[in-house]
Amino acid sequence: MTDPVEHWDIHPQHPWLRGAQPDQPVAFDDETGMWHVYGYAEAMEIINDFATYSSGVASRFASSKEETEVAFDGNLSQADPPGHKKLRKLVSRTFTHKMVTGMEPRIHELTNELLDQVEGDRFDLVEALAYPLPVIVICDLLGLPRSDREMLKNWGDQNLEARGQLTVRAGGEEHERRLDYQAESAMEMGFYLLEHVSERRTKPREDLLTKLVESEVDGDRLSDRQIVNFANLLLFAGHITTTMLLGNTMLCLDAFRDADALVRKDRSLVPSLVEESLRYLTPLAANYRTTTRDVQLGGRHIPEGEVLMVWLSAANRDANAWADPHVFDPTRDPNPHLGFGRGIHFCLGAPLARLEGRVALDILFDRYPELRTDPDNPPSFLTPPDFTGVWSLPLRVP
Ligand code: HEM
Repeated sequence: MTDPVEHWDIHPQHPWLRGAQPDQPVAFDDETGMWHVYGYAEAMEIINDFATYSSGVASRFASSKEETEVAFDGNLSQADPPGHKKLRKLVSRTFTHKMVTGMEPRIHELTNELLDQVEGDRFDLVEALAYPLPVIVICDLLGLPRSDREMLKNWGDQNLEARGQLTVRAGGEEHERRLDYQAESAMEMGFYLLEHVSERRTKPREDLLTKLVESEVDGDRLSDRQIVNFANLLLFAGHITTTMLLGNTMLCLDAFRDADALVRKDRSLVPSLVEESLRYLTPLAANYRTTTRDVQLGGRHIPEGEVLMVWLSAANRDANAWADPHVFDPTRDPNPHLGFGRGIHFCLGAPLARLEGRVALDILFDRYPELRTDPDNPPSFLTPPDFTGVWSLPLRVP
């Protein structure tokens, strides 16, 4: 088979996924009113300079500033130092390396349980494993009942459906409709989480929500709203991304048969397979920043207050940064991809995502000596341009 991007026509509007180097590393897009950043060096410059490139961009997309403050207080990904440092310290105390490594036996067991339910030789990887695994793991960590996962899925789906191309231009009716739809699910989920947080204040348990309620830095604790917003971020960032990682990896192995054979033969390559998958088909394809002053970047002058869409997926294929960027190589080493971001906002859940990826892939390889896409039943893909991943991935045992 050809490259999965060509074969399944993934994001036709992203030429860098098809071997083309963008003409310029930085370009202004009149339609969205945003600056697009494609170069690896430029992306690194932005991510490492949080004083010039602020993460607090959500207010530029949402309908009112007031709403955003309520929705994003406690959301690490929107915070800048010094607030970010304090918040990250508070949550890092609960989301520790030890806690993540302690999850391995449970992830192993859960993956087997989920795959035990697969009947026959055709199944949808997303439905059977790639969606439920990360969401159950997050529910268990936070202390939310596993049985609520359908409800959480519906809110997550509603959020995804409403997400189109983000724009800083005046939105119009369709944009407003999308925002209302998204706000509705966010509010319902917020109330649901608030109930759990309130309960932990009176009845502590052995879970992450209780630890967040009890966590303290310099005498300060997190407010209910901050815990709700952080839990919300974990639920969303923590599951859809890992679903995409698993799906993308299987798509790459389906297309690149030599790589598939190599990794199945030498399982010590599974961790570097995960890294290469994150580089080749970057799930969170872009992150966003806003300039706090006038800057020169990639030969362009960018005024203060502009919004930048930093294409991690393009930086991960930049020919100025990578040898053979369009070759899928699970032995690539080093592999300094930007799939988990970099700097102070480096993905808090990276150790968990890597663990889930490694365990799930290893078990899939054990159970199925071969797994292929189904020509009669092609995969479908998430539509937001900044997400690269499958919505469904029917597989068959040949
Ligand atoms: C941040 C990607 C899994 C929680 C980020 C960022 C990226 C990313 C690119 C940086 C965003 C920025 O710079 O603005 C991914 C990918 C994942 C994944 C590709 C899976 C393959 C997870 C998981 C969790 C998680 C499993 C939690 C359970 C977070 C949090 C942040 C973050 C809390 C914000 C950190 C901060 O701003 O300090 N992630 N993520 N992610 N991720 Fe992940």
